[in-house]
Amino acid sequence: MKTSGSTIFYTGLLALSLTACSQPSGSGKEASVDRQVEELLGKMTLQEKIGQMNQLSPFGGPEEVAEQIRKGEIGSLLNVTDPDVVNRIQKIAVEESRLGIPVLMSRDVIHGYKTIFPIPLGQAATFNPQIVEDGARVAAIEASADGIRWTFAPMIDISRDPRWGRIAESCGEDPYLSAVMGVAMVKGFQGDSLNDPTSIAACAKHFVGYGAAEGGRDYNSTSIPERQLRNVYFPPFEAAAKAGCATFMTSFNDNDGVPSTGNSFILKDVLRDEWNYDGMVVTDWASTAEMISHGFCKDEKEAAMKSVNAGVDMEMVSGTFIRHLEALVKEKKVSEAAIDEAVRNILRLKFRLGLFDNPYVNTDQDVKYAPTHLAKAKEAVEQSVILLKNDGETLPFTDKIRTIAVVGPLADAAHDQMGTWVFDGEKAHTQTLLPALKEMYGDKVTFIYEPALGYSRDKNTANISKAVSAAMRADAVLACVGEESILSGEAHSLADLHLQGAQSELIAALAKTGKPLVTVVMAGRPLTIEQEVKQSDAVLYAFHPGTMGGPAIADLLFGKAVPSGKTPVTFPKMVGQIPVYYAHTNTGRPASRQETLIDDIPLEAGQTSLGCTSFYMDAGFDPLFPFGYGLSYTTFGYDNLRLATDKPSANGTLEISFDLTNTGKYDGTEVVQLYVQDKTGSVTRPVKELKGFQRVSLKQGEKKTVSFSLPIEELAFWNIDMQRVVEPGEFNLWVGPNSAEGLQTSFTIE
Ligand code: BGC
Repeated sequence: MKTSGSTIFYTGLLALSLTACSQPSGSGKEASVDRQVEELLGKMTLQEKIGQMNQLSPFGGPEEVAEQIRKGEIGSLLNVTDPDVVNRIQKIAVEESRLGIPVLMSRDVIHGYKTIFPIPLGQAATFNPQIVEDGARVAAIEASADGIRWTFAPMIDISRDPRWGRIAESCGEDPYLSAVMGVAMVKGFQGDSLNDPTSIAACAKHFVGYGAAEGGRDYNSTSIPERQLRNVYFPPFEAAAKAGCATFMTSFNDNDGVPSTGNSFILKDVLRDEWNYDGMVVTDWASTAEMISHGFCKDEKEAAMKSVNAGVDMEMVSGTFIRHLEALVKEKKVSEAAIDEAVRNILRLKFRLGLFDNPYVNTDQDVKYAPTHLAKAKEAVEQSVILLKNDGETLPFTDKIRTIAVVGPLADAAHDQMGTWVFDGEKAHTQTLLPALKEMYGDKVTFIYEPALGYSRDKNTANISKAVSAAMRADAVLACVGEESILSGEAHSLADLHLQGAQSELIAALAKTGKPLVTVVMAGRPLTIEQEVKQSDAVLYAFHPGTMGGPAIADLLFGKAVPSGKTPVTFPKMVGQIPVYYAHTNTGRPASRQETLIDDIPLEAGQTSLGCTSFYMDAGFDPLFPFGYGLSYTTFGYDNLRLATDKPSANGTLEISFDLTNTGKYDGTEVVQLYVQDKTGSVTRPVKELKGFQRVSLKQGEKKTVSFSLPIEELAFWNIDMQRVVEPGEFNLWVGPNSAEGLQTSFTIE
């Protein structure tokens, strides 16, 4: 991804794979890696091979695993973060084990190591792959300084259910956006070359379908048919594989009855045979043994067998390989060739990472929380925060606002602001909003702090009156609400997505004061905040913004930065609308949006008097905010959409352009989006699909012609014959500010 001037341009997965960093396969370096792998493999006993396939997390410290490492029984460790301990372990591996194979040190470095960036869902809201890549680079530099050379990210599960706590870790609902962001993360983690000491191997997870857990309950089963896997769930993974993502992780779910860790269709037929992937496949935490609970294997031994035979290379923590593979090979239930193939994939990665040349970490590095890292993190927050509402130009705060009441449980919540999947970021380094406001704007504005609630789930309403009284003394109210970090992430699903505790009461009480009410939401997912949005004059959705949330949001509130984030996922009005996503199919009876809703239905209305369309009587059809939505302090005009031809050839590229004008009062950046609809197919097609986006910066009054080049190949999909083809016919095309608005035209492929 390259930035040219102030415009960041992206179209097409094809472009994605062309710009992605690829493994240097076929190069001299790779040939020599292969030679070294074969040479080493030739010296290994079966036990030593199985040892490489074993990954453990030494809860009891390095002594716990020293003997196993000496015996060559461990290939990788998770969660060792003390560089001195890393070096001690490597010394044992290199000097005291028979073959001297270094251990691969791993960790969940998901959205930062020490400097915490916005949660991945927040990063996706930037629609800026460059800032996302930069964030992953910062994380890699900081983590590798502690000896970590492998992270379990990016998480690129398509997530269309905000009840699922892990939506926080995802890039949202869209295959294209998730592919672009996933590739950006891979590039950032892995850098220009894996064997740079600051590079860490990335891991595309969770392969596959985990985000489609029934009812949004974590770990639940999924029912995704093959065509939908291919059209929706595979694309980010295929893009990551093609971008040279060093590893893949299997997912916990069973899809259509088959747990991913035992699924040779996805791990062999698709990943290896169709995508020619030569990286390494690890299971998720204990997911081999969990195939027993799934009812897919009767015992550990069968689980080990089904895992390896399905195409798993390394097992995370369940230890079934080390206990059973030798017997399974002797009984000819697992072939030694399968073991060799797995070990090849593992050793290849260790060679690519340069671990054999330099297994040790330089303990003399001072890179954590570097000023450049903090500056990047701040920039990422500025671009990720979404302005959902701004009635009467409430924001940015002008000079007329001299006193602001800061209320709510998230205004000064150093821990919670970091979000889920933070093991290494420290509260002491988190810059929260309240002190940032005082420090950065305290010379002009008086801030009265009255949190009212101690934490997001706090139900005690006793102090709401104090917040109301603070509001009465102020020119404006800033309510910081949302979710504690523990409320999203793994195993943290929710059935109710309203604000927790007494936060809604707090907002309602503040709204009644009649003072301008600005609500800032920090959360791990879209929440059902229709009522709070109505009650507020302005709403900024910040997700969990990480270390630099405070200063970034302060600058957004005062107009030093202008919001440009866009929703990476549809915001439902009510939980009952879920799943609700923009790229749905039309049904035979699409909603007209003229439907009579529940409060207007006459008594004893006739059975068919409401019309027979696909909608909810209480929620209607539309969500609270569509995918791709987000306002700015300025406004943008879209005009003059034109296509170079309305009959592009099937193997050509469609040139699209339109004029974008900054029609408002501020300089600003707009994320312009390109959507296409294949009107008729051999199978039904989504009403719209994102095919490109760009961040375009315009000065006040400035006008630019914006162009997209769309390779027609990008319109291919898996059709009725399970072939990936572009089917001729008519297409609609939109450019616009979100998935629900924009200029429209059409074209035909003959
Ligand atoms: C999660 C993975 C994670 C692994 C290691 C599992 O519970 O599902 O995403 O990488 O733990 O911590």
